Order: sequence, then C-alpha cells, then structure tokens
Amino acid sequence: MSDELKKGLEGVLVAESGLSYIDGDEGRLVYRGYTIEDLARGASYEEVLYLLWHGELPTETELDEFAGDMAAERAVDDDVIDTVRDLAAADEVPMAAVRTAVSELSAFDADADGEEPTDREANLAKGKRLTAKLPTVIAAFTRLRDGEEPVEPREDLSHAGNFLYMLNGEVPDDVMEEVFDQALVLHADHGLNASTFSAMVTSSTLADLHSAVTSAIGTLSGSLHGGANQNVMEMLKEVDESGKDPVQWVEDALDNGDRVAGFGHRVYNVKDPRAKILSEQSEELGEAAGDTKWYEMSVAIEEYMQEEKGLAPNVDFYSATTYYQMGIPTDIYTPIFAMSRVGGWIAHVLEQYEDNRLIRPRARYVGPKDQTFTLIDERE
Ligand SMILES: CC(C)(COP(=O)(O)OP(=O)(O)OC[C@H]1O[C@@H](n2cnc3c(N)ncnc32)[C@H](O)[C@@H]1OP(=O)(O)O)[C@@H](O)C(=O)NCCC(=O)NCCS
Repeated sequence: MSDELKKGLEGVLVAESGLSYIDGDEGRLVYRGYTIEDLARGASYEEVLYLLWHGELPTETELDEFAGDMAAERAVDDDVIDTVRDLAAADEVPMAAVRTAVSELSAFDADADGEEPTDREANLAKGKRLTAKLPTVIAAFTRLRDGEEPVEPREDLSHAGNFLYMLNGEVPDDVMEEVFDQALVLHADHGLNASTFSAMVTSSTLADLHSAVTSAIGTLSGSLHGGANQNVMEMLKEVDESGKDPVQWVEDALDNGDRVAGFGHRVYNVKDPRAKILSEQSEELGEAAGDTKWYEMSVAIEEYMQEEKGLAPNVDFYSATTYYQMGIPTDIYTPIFAMSRVGGWIAHVLEQYEDNRLIRPRARYVGPKDQTFTLIDERE
C-alpha cells in the first residue's frame, strides 16, 4: 500500500471510462471519440445523451424514439412543484432548490422502488425522466421566485427550446435555441470532474441513481466548480459598475489575493476547447445585439490573465456572457450547468454499476495517538 499523499486526488487514476477523453496540453475534448467541436456544431443535446448512454450515435429513427420518450417525461408532479413553490417563497438559493426537488423526484419515479439499484434498463428509464424533468424544475423555480406562475412543458419542442420556452413563456427563435443547445452539448461530460466523481462515489455504495445525482448537484454548486459561471458574470458586472479599466480591476483583485473566476483548470494547461466555442457564441450574440461590451471586456481580461499569470479561461468564463446576452438570470447559470451535466453523471453511474467496486480511499492520520480517557465530570 503506497503512502504517497495525493492532495485533491490530482493525477490519480481511479477508473476506466469510455465516455470522455481530455488532452489538457492540446486543449482537446472528445465524447466517445467524437470531438467536441463536431458535436457542438452537428449534434443536438439529445443526440449527445444517446451517444453517452448507449455508446454510439443514434440513427434518425433511434433519435426520434429516444427524444420523444424524453419529451413525454417533462411534466413534474404537482407535489414537487409545491415544494419548488415553497423553496422560492423562502428565497432558497437555486442550486439548493434544485437539489431538494431532484431528491423529491425519486418519490414519484415509477422505477425508483423495487428494482435493483444497478438495473441498467431501470436506470436508463430513470435517467430519461431525471434529465427531462430537471429543466422543468429549474424554469418553475426561476419563474416562481420572480413572482410568475410556471409554464407547462411542451412535447413538440427540443430539450433546449422547451427549457427557454418554460423560462420565458415564449418559444425561442432558432438562433437562441441553437446557441443554448450547443451550450448543453459542451457541458454534458468532462471526465472525472468533482461532481461526476461524487456521483460515482455515491453509486459505488450501491445507492440509487437519484441519490447519486443529488450528491452531484451539491458538489457542482461550489465556486471552485459549477458555481464559477455565476461568479464570472457577477465579476464582470462589478468591473462594469466600477468604471475601472477591466485589466486594472483584475490586477487589483489578484493583488488582493483573490481568484479570478473562470480561469485555471485542474486538467487544461491551455485554453479550454469549450471556452473557444463559447467565446465565438458570446461575440456573435454581442454583434447581433449591437453591443460587444461584455465580449471585449472578457477578451481584455483573458489576454491579461494569459500573459501575466499563464492562466487560460475555462468553460465558465465565456458561458457567463453567452447566457447573460440571452437574457438568462445570473443565478441560474449553475442550475443550467446541472441540467446538462446530468447526462454525464448518469453515464458515469451506469459505467460504475457495470464494474463496481466500493470507492473508499484513506487519509494519513496526523492526529494524537494514545491519549488517556477521563470521564466528563473529571475533565478540567
Ligand atoms: C479550477 C481550479 C479550482 C483548479 O485548481 P487547482 O488545480 O487545485 O489549482 P490550484 O488551486 O492549486 O492553483 C494553482 C496556482 O494557480 C493559481 N490560480 C489558479 N486559478 C486561479 C484563478 N482563477 N485566479 C487566480 N489564481 C489562480 C493559484 O493561486 C495557484 O497559485 P500558487 O501556486 O501561486 O498558489 C482553480 O483554477 C480555480 O480556483 N479557478 C477559479 C474557479 C473556476 O473558474 N472554477 C471552474 C473550473 S471549470
């Protein structure tokens, strides 16, 4: 047994996976052998889900059936909507609300009882339901806390289009639907990131899929992981309001010992390939609206961080301005990340169940040994 300590499990291989491959030096990401650029350009989120869960791209007939099954699962039980209503009234933070609602969804899932937690068919059915219902929960929460009633899902729209419809009460135009669909594709899987690993740890105890996804949502919420996209936008708004030059603002923040959200990555040493695609989206949305302020500010910060700190932007840096320019409220950027990554979490849990071994590492004990115990009334 090795006693070498690997803090943060950096570089430690813990599993074999056929899902996504990351080359951190070349800035390459592939899902099951297909580049993220090809998938973002040519495949819908539903196609990517099929690819991740079934191992190959669907034919048109397979995709129609798969997407149709998922679309039929979008509605959420009234009891879950009531919980979401209560959470919105209590000003719960969005990621916590989503976590609670997803946990409650298991009470209404037809396959949640009586099946072995590792049953692949039952998990595929549960996975479709969870993925289909997550956008409904997020849109309902957002509308309720903004004082509006939820909008019922529609089965005739795509996964991306239906979410924007439920959020805004209007069917999005083709550009908005396409940009959002691409963002979902880009976030769907990313090796053993912290939330995915969390889902794997939970499923490795033979806990069920809803428990694994609930764990993963909690893990994604932190500012070092999924929470960064919201922080990026809040930072850019602060820079804008300060009236300072963006580079000066960032320099001051770094001098203050702060981290700049949206930069750095455990795996990439160069610009994240997803950030490249999203920066193009952000620029195009700015140009279409006749205001490239956010894009230009982002580019100035990117150039400074790269030159001065050797840190490149990650996926969150440009997803922030992309969502902002689509009119999406800042505090649901991380729930949107969850809405996409749920596909990856489910795919990794399926892999984990197929070749399970309990995940249980060790810590080096550095506490005291051989203390003498005294009863409480004898302690000073
Ligand atoms: C993503 C992240 C957690 C990876 O962290 P990590 O692999 O553990 O790397 P470390 O935290 O050890 O950072 C290595 C060095 O880079 C610096 N660094 C990393 N990211 C930084 C950032 N965003 N801003 C400023 N400095 C940063 C650290 O201060 C550290 O410097 P030091 O060695 O002088 O102390 C980290 O880059 C970060 O906090 N980024 C901001 C949050 C974010 O965007 N998260 C989303 C990731 S997709």
